[in-house]
Parts: sequence; C-alpha cells; structure tokens
Amino acid sequence: MLRTTRHARHLLSTAGALLVLSSLAACGDDGYLPPVSRNDAAIPPGVDGGLGAIDTGMSTGPSGLPCDVAMVLSTYCSSCHGSTPAGGAYNSMMTRDQLLANSTSRPGMTVLDVAVARMMDGSMPPAPATVPAADIATISTWQSAGAPAGSCEMPTDPFAGPDTCTSGTMWTGGNRESELMHPGLACIDCHTSMREGPYLYVAGTVYASGREVPDCNGIRSTGADPVTVEITDATGYVLTLYPNAAGNFLDEDIPLTFPVSARVLYQGRERRMAAPITNGDCNSCHTLRGAMGAPGRIVVP
Ligand code: HEC
Ligand code: HEC
Ligand code: HEC
Repeated sequence: MLRTTRHARHLLSTAGALLVLSSLAACGDDGYLPPVSRNDAAIPPGVDGGLGAIDTGMSTGPSGLPCDVAMVLSTYCSSCHGSTPAGGAYNSMMTRDQLLANSTSRPGMTVLDVAVARMMDGSMPPAPATVPAADIATISTWQSAGAPAGSCEMPTDPFAGPDTCTSGTMWTGGNRESELMHPGLACIDCHTSMREGPYLYVAGTVYASGREVPDCNGIRSTGADPVTVEITDATGYVLTLYPNAAGNFLDEDIPLTFPVSARVLYQGRERRMAAPITNGDCNSCHTLRGAMGAPGRIVVP
C-alpha cells in the first residue's frame, strides 16, 4: 500500500544503498539499515505509537446542548471557541451557559444571538471557512425556540488536560536522520537553520491529546480506517498523509502551492483548521502550549 510518497523514495534509496553497500553489509552501523528496520527499532515491540491509547474524543462532558447544535459548534467553531479559546477568539462556546452569556462585542445581545447573526452574515467562522446553510438553520431554529436545554455531551476538550506523553515512548535518537525523528518539534525550522535534512513542504505530528511534550511519539496510522492528515493547497490539490510510527507526517516529494488548509480525519470524525496557513511547519505553531494562536498539538479527532 502506498502510505506516503516518502515510502516510494525509501524503497528506491534503500535498494541503491544495498547495491553500493552490499560488501559492507556486516558493518552494523544502523545508519545503513533500511529505514523500515529503523522504524521498528525506534518503537519498542508491542507499543504502537499510541494507537491503543487513543482517546477518541468521544468521552464526554455535559454541555446542556441538544446534540445537533453541539455537533455544528464542535465541527465549525470549536477550533477557535473551544474551552481554551484560540485563533484570536476570546470566548468559549462549548456549553449552553456560554452561549446564553452576554456578548462582549455587542452589549445587550447574548453570545448565541451574535453567533446566529454572524453565521448568517458570513463573518463567522472567518473566511474562507463556511458553514452549510442547513447547519446554520440548526442553530437559528434552536435559538428561535428559546434555546431549550438538551442533554448532549460535548467531546472532552483535548487541550484542557495536563502535560503528558500519551504513547509513553519518546524519540531518543537525537539528530540521527529518520522520518521518526523529533516528534512534536518544528521539523522545517530545524532543517532550515541547520542546513541539514530534506526540504519538506509540510511536516508535523499527530497526537492523542493537545498537551504532549516535545519528542513524545504521537499516533501511528494503521488499519483499514487510518488516521489521515489531509492538506488542500491553493490550487485545490488534495494531499493525503498518514502519520508514521512516531506520529510524524511529512511531504518531501510533492510541491504544494501555499496557502494550504488542513484537517485530520479518523473514523468519520474530523478536526479542521479554519484558517489556511502559509507555513507548512505544523509543529511550529502546534507546540505543547500552542503558538501563533494555535490551541496546542494537532489532535486525532
Ligand atoms: C478561525 C477561528 C474562528 C473560528 C473557527 C470561529 N470563530 Fe468566532 N471569533 C473568532 C475571533 C478571532 C473572534 C473575535 C474577533 C471578532 O469578533 O471578529 C470571534 C468572535 C466571535 C463571536 C463574538 C463573541 C462575543 O462575545 O460577542 C461570536 C458570537 C462568534 N465568534 C461565533 C462563532 C461561531 C458561531 C463559529 C462557528 C460557526 C465561529 N465563531 C468560528 C474566531 C473564530
Ligand atoms: C502559523 C501557525 C500555524 C501553522 C503553521 C499550522 N497551524 Fe493549525 N492551527 C493554527 C491556529 C491558529 C489554529 C486555531 C484556529 C483555526 O482553526 O484556524 C489551528 C488549528 C488547527 C486544527 C484544529 C484544531 C482543533 O483541534 O480544533 C488542526 C487540525 C490543525 N490546525 C492542523 C494543522 C496542520 C496539519 C498543519 C500543518 C500542515 C498546521 N495546522 C499548521 C495555526 C497553525
Ligand atoms: C533539532 C533539529 C531537527 C528537528 C527538530 C528535526 N530534524 Fe529531521 N533532520 C535533522 C538533521 C540534522 C538531519 C540530517 C541528519 C544526518 O544527515 O545525519 C535530519 C534528517 C531528516 C530526514 C532524512 C532522513 C532520511 O532517512 O533520509 C527526515 C525524513 C527528517 N529529518 C524528518 C524530520 C521530521 C518529520 C521532523 C519533525 C517531526 C524532523 N525531521 C525534525 C534535524 C532535525
């Protein structure tokens, strides 16, 4: 199966290395081992890079919202209006109480009133993200009915917990070249400043929670319905990447036209970045605590 374009390149470079190095095959320098073996060596047997420990995001907390309303807010608004506001937003919209609170921007109105007005005038979420008319209607119909309490549970906020390393395994190889290296660190920034390592168009790490420490291995993409990172570039080209055993995903081969948008898909759920970005170094913003307005790590949906 073609998992990423890098694997095709690996097969070629491994074959080449074997030809050249066949007479040195017993040298034992793991720098010459095929990358696949190095991948296996970096992750102890039985540890799948965290997949077994995925918090699917479906464990729950009470929101007081009907489920259809919670679903729209979770899909289109929570990347900025989660329980830790991000992307320049200052308010959370994860519970009925938060929606019925007074608006900061428009005194005399509730947050819900402003939310409906701004979804209708297209100013929320900020362009170019849009919400389908049927989903706007879900919110406005609920508002018109007096916002009756519901009993849906909101997905747990992955950015609310303590600093952690969910996989329980860390990268310990220093700057040894590997696609598994330094999960959680800013790949492109380091390669550029050290003038070493391949040129990468996009690279980053997917985690089980939003608060994973640097060098902690993230979530590996396995199985029939794997964790998928989808990048859509400015020309509309859609690149699909699968996180490796360290949770890292990277594009070394296919040029992209920036700005790009991104979302992570798993088992029919998604987490999407509302605003396109001009920098493919995902972990430079998606740090332990989040930089440049990002809420924290890139999290499996
Ligand atoms: C990419 C980030 C982002 C997303 C996604 C987003 N917002 Fe916002 N939102 C902001 C920012 C930044 C502000 C503050 C600046 C402003 O008001 O334009 C804001 C302000 C608001 C306010 C004003 C709150 C107040 O107290 O007056 C409401 C209401 C709102 N957003 C509703 C929504 C709704 C509803 C969605 C989803 C359909 C949404 N937003 C999605 C970034 C976002
Ligand atoms: C320049 C900083 C920056 C870079 C680089 C960046 N992001 Fe983001 N990301 C943000 C901000 C800010 C938000 C929150 C506002 C929004 O959704 O636009 C966000 C939100 C997200 C979310 C939704 C968060 C959630 O869990 O609700 C995902 C998924 C995401 N980014 C993936 C990516 C991927 C994949 C890359 C690399 C291709 C990337 N980001 C690169 C700043 C960045
Ligand atoms: C602290 C600096 C640093 C960080 C952070 C870093 N790298 Fe590297 N990377 C290097 C250096 C240095 C090399 C070249 C090492 C060598 O030639 O021995 C390299 C090489 C590589 C290679 C080439 C390996 C091969 O088999 O051809 C890949 C792929 C790679 N890095 C991916 C990544 C990814 C993905 C990330 C982020 C998750 C990352 N790197 C983060 C320094 C870094």
